[in-house]
Amino acid sequence: MQVGIDRIHYYTSNYYIDLADIAKARGVDPRKFGEGIGQTQMSVQPPGEDIVTLAANAAQHILNEKNRSKISMVILGTESGIDQSKAASIYIRSLLGLRNHCRAFEVKQACYGGTAGLQMAISHVKCNPTEQVLVLASDIARYGLGSPGEATQGGGAVAFTVSANPAILAMDEWNGYYNEDVMDFWRPNYRNEALVDGKSSVKIYIRSMLESWKIYKEKSKLSFNDFTRFCYHLPFSRMGETALSKLAKAEGFRLKAEDVANLLGPALKYNQVTGNTYAASLYVGLCSLLDHDCSDLSCKRIGLFSYGSGCMAEFFSGVVQKDYQNYLYTTLHQERLAARQKIDINLYEAFYNFEYNKEGSSQRIDENYMTGNFKLVEMKDHQRIYKAL
Ligand code: HMG
Repeated sequence: MQVGIDRIHYYTSNYYIDLADIAKARGVDPRKFGEGIGQTQMSVQPPGEDIVTLAANAAQHILNEKNRSKISMVILGTESGIDQSKAASIYIRSLLGLRNHCRAFEVKQACYGGTAGLQMAISHVKCNPTEQVLVLASDIARYGLGSPGEATQGGGAVAFTVSANPAILAMDEWNGYYNEDVMDFWRPNYRNEALVDGKSSVKIYIRSMLESWKIYKEKSKLSFNDFTRFCYHLPFSRMGETALSKLAKAEGFRLKAEDVANLLGPALKYNQVTGNTYAASLYVGLCSLLDHDCSDLSCKRIGLFSYGSGCMAEFFSGVVQKDYQNYLYTTLHQERLAARQKIDINLYEAFYNFEYNKEGSSQRIDENYMTGNFKLVEMKDHQRIYKAL
């Protein structure tokens, strides 16, 4: 029995900033962000938008009468948790009107959380083939204003259903894992922004990819040329390009720029205008690939690399299903991106500096900002109050 991704949808905020405006405000050459890290814009979250509203907006479109009644598990991968105890997936399950008789929980391992969710979902469906799992990956990437990481912020969510006989991507049985105890990126409980050793995080990402690929290759007996396209975890798009070139080099190929563009280019497009979405990023890349690739990918194998700092890495793969084009949300994704509002540096900094009351006292959140069909409207008695609009 084949198991994998049956529907997949990506959602990002209504507001974005041009990286050229950040470069100007910080006195940096804009080519560093464009040519250097391969990014042009990043999504910015207004007050009232968080991982719950982002994920609910992502999931809403993939739910229909048929799959709603089959969903028996809702898993959220995030590293932007809103509570130390209650899983954000419970709020999301409730906002979406999914049935109570299902498991709902949250998993965390930096940007690897979405992949942990996918792998758990696959095991669950293999044991319960008539059921489906809703996997959510939702994050807001934050670094300090003016820090080297600032241009690699962003935010968004991906929702996908995992089922038997999937319409989009049937997962292969082989996985290569790698884990190392490193401090390349972390966020202690008392901080809103991540701490990061940027240069070493890039090196560890590459090392972990090569280690997980080694195990994947041993198990699968496949080689580089067995893949038609690749999707990588994308903290910024140039990271994926660099990593793919290193993988090819380790396998004895020297990729030209046009080879990288062909193998990975379509998967980079949404990341270039959204920024890092942490746990969602690999799956934003998958949506981007399926929406932008001009060739028919039916029956073609895609290599996927997931990386979460700290660190946990996994190389795995899947085969695109026949007629997958009929199940994509390409128009919706592209209309949403086209409808976003550009904001200036002052509003970006105001959004960045906005804080919810830390001591739990009541607070109404400004209702004027757009947050899709779901909003965090109020903090009351230490509780977050959400509304479906
Ligand atoms: P930096 O150190 O300020 O930048 O920040 P740089 O000096 O390394 O420059 C970046 C690139 O731009 C370089 O290209 C420069 O040459 C080029 P490269 O040599 O690497 O090919 N450049 C220019 N190009 C054209 N014109 C110019 C120009 N100037 C420079 N004028 C860094 C870069 C990634 C360190 C920073 O953005 C950062 O700290 N980001 C956050 C950490 C990160 O994204 N790490 C990635 C791997 S870890 C990961 O993916 C996990 C993560 O998602 C978290 C999680 O798992 O939860 C982050």
